[in-house]
Amino acid sequence: MTVKKVFSKIALLTSGGDAPGMNAVIRSVVRTCVFHKIVPIGVSKGYDGLIKGNMSEMNARSVKGIINKGGTILKTARSKGFRTKAGREEAFENLKKNNIDGLIVIGGDGTFTGGLIFSEEFNFPVIGVPATIDNDIFGTSHTVGFDSATNTVMEAIDKIRDTASSHNRLFFIEVMGRDAGHIALNTGVAAGAEEILIPEENLGLDRLIQSLKRSQKTGKSSSIVVVAEGDNTGENVFQLKDYVEEHLSDYEARVAVLGHMQRGGSPTCFDRVLASRLGVKAVESIINGETISMVGLQNNIVKLTPFKKAIKGITKINTELLKVSDIMSI
Ligand code: F6P
Repeated sequence: MTVKKVFSKIALLTSGGDAPGMNAVIRSVVRTCVFHKIVPIGVSKGYDGLIKGNMSEMNARSVKGIINKGGTILKTARSKGFRTKAGREEAFENLKKNNIDGLIVIGGDGTFTGGLIFSEEFNFPVIGVPATIDNDIFGTSHTVGFDSATNTVMEAIDKIRDTASSHNRLFFIEVMGRDAGHIALNTGVAAGAEEILIPEENLGLDRLIQSLKRSQKTGKSSSIVVVAEGDNTGENVFQLKDYVEEHLSDYEARVAVLGHMQRGGSPTCFDRVLASRLGVKAVESIINGETISMVGLQNNIVKLTPFKKAIKGITKINTELLKVSDIMSI
């Protein structure tokens, strides 16, 4: 007969780049712990806080008024120390010293890689909650923060469109996504971009020129090219602008780099609901003895994916969106 482990304290931390909705996950994890008579322990500044022992008890009231707030009240970091065995040993000692018997990590694939190594090294229960604006985690259709960031970007592009069409200008708008084009692709379609450049596909500079020529011929008063940070042309937005101005002298082009404003702001309704659902599942999974996995949304059902799969798996871009964008931008 297997005896079910009883959890008395569960620690939680946010790690990697912040994302709108991280606070909503924290709130959900904390309140689910309290609901199940488990003491939630908040760790400050990601894995660094675990190494330094920066942690304190939370309760249902310590997460009041944060569901609508951007950023993370627990702070976040990309920890170098946790990449070392010595750092992880210190983290384990701190968890033991504080009688903590489970850990919930909120972040992206770097966060889960740390969680996987730690969990295997010390046989310690760890569950992950995907929160990154990039939406590049395998095992969930949506990461917490993606919907909010895409809405922020869409609104920014709408505003740029106003000035672009007043001046008959072409704008190159750089959005986040070092390795993934989900933000660019979705916001490009939503804001009616003429072209979308992403890391996953190289459509070539010739095609860009042809498409912009066509836009001019068909009487468009402005053009928007949405460019993901890590786009596949090998050129950055400023080089792209120069290239187009060299080849199409009629165009007056400008560049807008949206930068870190994409990571801020109040989370959308979708992200708040997603965060709340994933937080509950994360705590209940640990309680039920399921570990070394990530909670995620699959066909609108909350499910677990082992860390190993979530980290190795590659999220595919929706190629249908490329086709839709092509047709819409005639
Ligand atoms: O949060 C993910 C991400 O937004 C990437 O798209 C981006 O390249 C990166 O973070 C930049 O983050 P930082 O400035 O924190 O290194």
